[in-house]
Amino acid sequence: MRLEPPPPQAIVVFGASGDLTHRKLLPALYQLARQGMLPAKYAVIGYSRTETTDEEFRAEARASVEKAAGGDFDEDTWSSFADSLSYIAGSFTDPHAFQPLHDKLAEHDQEFEGRRLYYCATPPSAFAGIVDRLAECDLTGTTARIVIEKPFGRDLASAKELSAHIHGVFDEARVFRIDHYLGKETVQNLLVFRFANSMFERVWNRDAIDHIQVTVAEEVGVGNRVGYYNSSGAIRDMLQNHLLQVLAFLTMEPPRSLEPEAVRDEKVKLLRAVRPFSPDDTIRAHYDGFADEVKEPTDTETYVAARTTIDNWRWSGVPFFLRTGKRLPRRETEITVVFKDVPTYLYDSLDMAPPPANHLVINVQPREGIAFTFQAKDPGPGFKPRTVKMDFDYEESFGAEPAEAYERLLYDAMMGDHTLFTRADEVERSWEIVAPLLDGGRPKVCTYDPGTWGPTESNELIEPRHWHLR
Ligand SMILES: NC(=O)c1ccc[n+]([C@@H]2O[C@H](COP(=O)([O-])OP(=O)(O)OC[C@H]3O[C@@H](n4cnc5c(N)ncnc54)[C@H](OP(=O)(O)O)[C@@H]3O)[C@@H](O)[C@H]2O)c1
Repeated sequence: MRLEPPPPQAIVVFGASGDLTHRKLLPALYQLARQGMLPAKYAVIGYSRTETTDEEFRAEARASVEKAAGGDFDEDTWSSFADSLSYIAGSFTDPHAFQPLHDKLAEHDQEFEGRRLYYCATPPSAFAGIVDRLAECDLTGTTARIVIEKPFGRDLASAKELSAHIHGVFDEARVFRIDHYLGKETVQNLLVFRFANSMFERVWNRDAIDHIQVTVAEEVGVGNRVGYYNSSGAIRDMLQNHLLQVLAFLTMEPPRSLEPEAVRDEKVKLLRAVRPFSPDDTIRAHYDGFADEVKEPTDTETYVAARTTIDNWRWSGVPFFLRTGKRLPRRETEITVVFKDVPTYLYDSLDMAPPPANHLVINVQPREGIAFTFQAKDPGPGFKPRTVKMDFDYEESFGAEPAEAYERLLYDAMMGDHTLFTRADEVERSWEIVAPLLDGGRPKVCTYDPGTWGPTESNELIEPRHWHLR
């Protein structure tokens, strides 16, 4: 399906000298340009405090785009994309600091009919100031939209406060809170997989499913983000957003349509039924050596594993196990749906081990795909079952790698489509779910060896079951 390009608009990236802009946003915009999915007329304006000229910004942007494109860099696309790039150096705190931005946007107002997309790729501490500066300089006209990076708040109270601050200037229909996991094809595919295949939707409930586990494993440690990470930790950085969003797509009811609000209503309804995490059913840990990186004693977790349930008709009694960690054996995000066991009497009579349960394994990254394991008869005499696999590999089936999450999310924001962005009530409910793990009553931090699947305590959390990745 060929998608229509978004309407003409200016894209203003705050935090233009930062890691996210260079590693993800500029390469994503370039790819969209290459696919003809940027507006017929557009301007990309970078804004941050570092003094840089337009020429230097273009040169740095080119280096970032070339790096991200690997060997597949198209000179023609680049040169027309580069013409659209410009840069403004300025403060985020001084009153009327955005006047130069106002003047620049005014040059384009007529051809873009006043449309602007503001992308806040700055530290969260700058979000409220950006909104204030935009308001002061009269840059918030009715067609302007704002994209806010994660994390959105650091608990329920601060998320509510930030939403209220933004709503003073932009109504909710113009706010796009990013959770880049929702930009991933395999996460979106959860909806198609569930709601376009009659076979699976029929067994997607407590009658057929024993439990579901989701693992988001990172091989890297905290690297040069020690300060940020030590004040955040895995619960705020991953569990409250990415893991709960994946859980919502996996377990929500079919929406009444694919309209953005219909999908978001069902996600919120589901999140309201998720039982807040209990400290008794949660393991927090950090890898051995983390405190040395922080250079002081720390009780921040780089790993969390938690069990919860969903109090609704479909899922009552089914346990969900969610875990994420740094310095695990490899980078992998995997959902495993474990179906119930078959009756065992046939195998008991033959003195055979009962066949293992069916597994549906959904790989979100790095290799997107779905595998279903089931039992087949081992060749030869007798009826011994053997586990075999049916496999779908995204790249093999579609002949292309899935697009980067930020391409889809930037395109949708330019189109004004909210489906893959989190609404204020959704973010707030997610903070309520993790709230018991943020206060004084949360479990103590234990330690795990780098390169392992986390502390042994997390195996006890899931017993008598076991983690699929181990
Ligand atoms: N990097 C990622 O892969 C990633 C992934 C998911 C989410 N995010 C989110 O994206 C946002 C940006 O992350 P990042 O990794 O790009 O951060 P970064 O590398 O530190 O860049 C931050 C940018 O914001 C500007 N800035 C404005 N006000 C600032 C302030 N008060 N303190 C420091 N810098 C300020 C910085 O440039 P000047 O100093 O020139 O103003 C810089 O351009 C954060 O909210 C982060 O949580 C990032």
